Amino acid sequence: PAPLRIALAGLGTVGAGVIRLIETNRDLLARRAGRGIEIVAVSARDRSKDRGVDISRYDWEDDMGAMATRPDVDVVVELVGGSDGPALTLARGAIANGKSFVTANKAMIAHHGLSLAREAEAAGHALKFEAAVAGGIPIVKGLREGAAANAIERVYGILNGTSNYILSTMEDTGADFADVLGEAQAKGYAEADPTFDIDGIDAAHKLSILASIAFGTELDFTSVGADGIRRILAADIAQANSLGYVIRLLGMANVETGSDGTTRLFQRVHPYLVPKNHPLAHVDGPTNAVVAEGNFSGMLLFQGAGAGDGPTASAVVADIIDIARYWDSEGEIDPPFSIPVAELDKTLPAET
Ligand code: HSE
Repeated sequence: PAPLRIALAGLGTVGAGVIRLIETNRDLLARRAGRGIEIVAVSARDRSKDRGVDISRYDWEDDMGAMATRPDVDVVVELVGGSDGPALTLARGAIANGKSFVTANKAMIAHHGLSLAREAEAAGHALKFEAAVAGGIPIVKGLREGAAANAIERVYGILNGTSNYILSTMEDTGADFADVLGEAQAKGYAEADPTFDIDGIDAAHKLSILASIAFGTELDFTSVGADGIRRILAADIAQANSLGYVIRLLGMANVETGSDGTTRLFQRVHPYLVPKNHPLAHVDGPTNAVVAEGNFSGMLLFQGAGAGDGPTASAVVADIIDIARYWDSEGEIDPPFSIPVAELDKTLPAET
């Protein structure tokens, strides 16, 4: 079969990681995908920047929007970020032009995932976002496919590596929040705007995506209650410790039926007290971990790197392999949210 042809928009840490992965594991990917995977074009703000990868063999596009209309491109991969603006324009353009679209952009999927999924389903092409939730952990696949036979009763976990790094480092060293935030930024875990990390917004983006997949509800980012870790003191952590707890920023979602019989979707990001004997209490550093409770599987724990070039590239390229495998299946591609958008439960009243 002909190779699957990729256009890559965004050559930051993750974009360079995707190039490195595709070139390093070229033969293995071709065997797994059933066809070659070839990058044909790349685009970023600065062409000459040293990224530690050779981009000279790919076409350069000054205007990344042009990737959406290139006839020699099958899949557009967006690693630019931002919920709106150029990333969203590229997504809509790629889908409208019959391309499959892969993204690591959690903000864009949280805000526009439903409408993009509707457009992709109508076009019969794939929209995939494994890398948007918990970096290298295959949690989208894990819920959509691995746990597909279950009613999921609750999904929760550590969804922001920066906050977890800050809390666990404060715990280990007694350092103050501000000092540790600087370290997390220097190590490259934090978003360009770290308020998204420390105020729970990044985790809220990811939680809304997980909740939609887990419960088959329409993705509803606006109803996620988000509170971050800004106000946590080293002293709070010490007090929690003396009571037998650690503090972790968790995203928590379930569907609750109240005493009056009404059903509500609970989605909340908040610092929680986690008992020291709970598996999430031992998740330190920039790691993510997600627990899903299935009615037949029981408790499932997914853990791994939630950020970084290698892990995030691993999730991006897994999506590309999926597309390669299904490429000839003529509209048989799975809907992005496991059931078609039209069949998702309408937004349940949010728990307030
Ligand atoms: N800033 C994010 C985090 C990166 O710290 O988890 C991955 O989304």
